[in-house]
Amino acid sequence: MTPAGAGRALERCDELAAITSLPDGIERVHLSDEHRRANALALGWMRDAGLTAWQDAAGNVCGRLEGSEPGLPALVLGSHLDTVTDAGRFDGMLGVLLAIEVADRIRRSGRSLPFALEVVGFGDEEGTRFGNALLGSRAFAGSWQEAWGDLRDRRGTRLADAAAAFGLDASRIGEAARRPDELIGYLETHIEQGPHLEDAGRPLAVVSSIAGARRFALTVTGQAGHAGATPYDRRRDALVGAAEVVVEIERISKETGTIGTVGRIRAFPGGVNVVPGMARFSLDLRAEFDEQRDAAWARIEDFARDVCARRGLEWAVEELYRADAAACDPGLMAAVTAGIRATGDPEPLVLWSRAGHDGMAVAAVTGFAMLFLRCGNGGISHHPDETVTAEDVALALDAFEATVLAVADG
Ligand code: GLV
Ligand code: MN
Ligand code: MN
Ligand code: MN
Repeated sequence: MTPAGAGRALERCDELAAITSLPDGIERVHLSDEHRRANALALGWMRDAGLTAWQDAAGNVCGRLEGSEPGLPALVLGSHLDTVTDAGRFDGMLGVLLAIEVADRIRRSGRSLPFALEVVGFGDEEGTRFGNALLGSRAFAGSWQEAWGDLRDRRGTRLADAAAAFGLDASRIGEAARRPDELIGYLETHIEQGPHLEDAGRPLAVVSSIAGARRFALTVTGQAGHAGATPYDRRRDALVGAAEVVVEIERISKETGTIGTVGRIRAFPGGVNVVPGMARFSLDLRAEFDEQRDAAWARIEDFARDVCARRGLEWAVEELYRADAAACDPGLMAAVTAGIRATGDPEPLVLWSRAGHDGMAVAAVTGFAMLFLRCGNGGISHHPDETVTAEDVALALDAFEATVLAVADG
């Protein structure tokens, strides 16, 4: 039988999954009506757990349990409540819900900690709506930039206008910033989103660092023309040029230990009988080390420029997002290790995270560490088939609580 806390966290994942903008699937993006409804649910759950709860100036939800005396610096536990398009039901949400369960357990145990405990549900980690990810956690960490108010979503809505419709004032989002002296660290539990734990036959791991990512919007421009009547020696087909680059991205990425993904591509004007005059595509590029990622990007750009020169095309680059690799805090990692050991695993597995997480933004204001939990189905994530077992969630909850106690005993 699943212990109450883990079972309740899983039920709440289902409740959040029902808050979606898609008729058939999950999508919950920043500053949307769905975001507002998810925040209201999460605030209620935090209050039920005995926390003082509020929504901050950036649309993150926060809850607080005082320590042995009021006003102590806080250990923050959390993750994000937003999703990708056609998402699974655990990426982010499960970490927020387990954080609420840990706070609930500690409050009910009557144990007073030498720090306050805060829980946070960040409003944007994925960047699904505005392209630039980690907007919630960057505001929390004091890295909010006024210019981001002008970011636009795919419908052309400015972030500042979306914030106003949500009930926030974009000119005050920076006020969500926390000071380093208010915090002692940030801990996040998250599904692994990959196959390493499942392959190793183990439920939990401690994270050592998070890969640094860069995201680009790339444009190849040529000349549109008649599909039948334009001879090959006169064509400037932007899509064929882009296709060469896409294939080379995979080759360079594999060769350099980088991870490159072209997740979106469009040809313009997009007629079946028209040579494409323009192709636009995305690139998400990540690596354990920033130098590795940047060297791969330099090679990709050189290749793209050569292809474009050879084919009479133009090449343009817009960088949408950049987050450098972030190392976990050794002291907090030791606490996560102790937390996993408390569940009966004497030698916890250590993994670096290929996926991005709020910790890489929070690192600007305080140290962070992470606990990974196995997901099944080959580790599939950013997909509706994302899955966890109730047993693993129960173990993760025990390990997360033991981690907090290890920080307290520190
Ligand atoms: C966010 O989940 C990312 O790593 O892309
Ligand atoms: Mn995600
Ligand atoms: Mn996530
Ligand atoms: Mn992520």
